[in-house]
Amino acid sequence: MQPYRRFHPQYRERLALADGTWAELRMVRPEDAALLRDGFERLSPRSRFQRFLSAKPRLSAEELRYLTSVDGEQHVAIGAVTWSPAGRERGLGVARFFRLAHAPEVAEVAITVADDAQGKGLGRLLMDRLVESARERGVERFEFRVLAGNLPMYKLVQTLAPCEPEQDDDALCFHVPLSAPTRSGYELMRSLLALAAQGALMLIGPTCRWRMMARASSPGAYEEEARSP
Ligand SMILES: CC(C)(COP(=O)(O)OP(=O)(O)OC[C@H]1O[C@@H](n2cnc3c(N)ncnc32)[C@H](O)[C@@H]1OP(=O)(O)O)[C@@H](O)C(=O)NCCC(=O)NCCS
Repeated sequence: MQPYRRFHPQYRERLALADGTWAELRMVRPEDAALLRDGFERLSPRSRFQRFLSAKPRLSAEELRYLTSVDGEQHVAIGAVTWSPAGRERGLGVARFFRLAHAPEVAEVAITVADDAQGKGLGRLLMDRLVESARERGVERFEFRVLAGNLPMYKLVQTLAPCEPEQDDDALCFHVPLSAPTRSGYELMRSLLALAAQGALMLIGPTCRWRMMARASSPGAYEEEARSP
């Protein structure tokens, strides 16, 4: 039986960005090609350069197909959308990983947030969800190629695991192990209860010992207790 996965094709999550904008996160699907092209066309040349590590005036039809034909296993992409006043979806960002063909436990990562949505916490949200979806699929390491000076991306990578990058052509290459997931709320609650119980024992223990010592120092105390009904 397949283990439960949070990031399945129907995954949807609504949340508010730092400025109050509502966004929905969901898995990218083939019908998103037009949304992705529109998002790419709104990207500044600087953001395009940081994402593709070269000047990128347009996305070809083949690239669009590749970026939206995700299989949810080797290639996973989580998109963020918001809505125009007319109710039309507008792309805000996308985070994806591709497993390496020769080392499927390793995946290369790319994240892009539309310029007007940057600095509002969306990059971090997408990164968190991408890491969780990768762990669900047994990915052990993420690789990032980041241009020197890309401070927001550098910060996102460093909060996963502090690491020293390698110089790789014009970019810095970070190899980030995906550590064990943080403990679930249930496990955390159990640990807290165990700690609370330990604390209670530490309080009760000395009290019992003190009562026993008091009894021992009062001759006949046990006999009296034995006689009482
Ligand atoms: C990198 C990128 C995805 C970050 O997305 P974002 O939504 O702006 O990121 P967040 O708002 O979640 O911020 C992430 C961190 O960067 C910091 N940050 C954001 N904008 C910043 C800026 N202009 N200067 C310095 N730090 C900045 C935030 O404070 C946060 O750090 P903190 O949590 O320690 O405070 C986005 O800037 C982007 O799409 N850039 C162009 C494409 C790109 O570079 N992709 C990466 C290639 S793999």
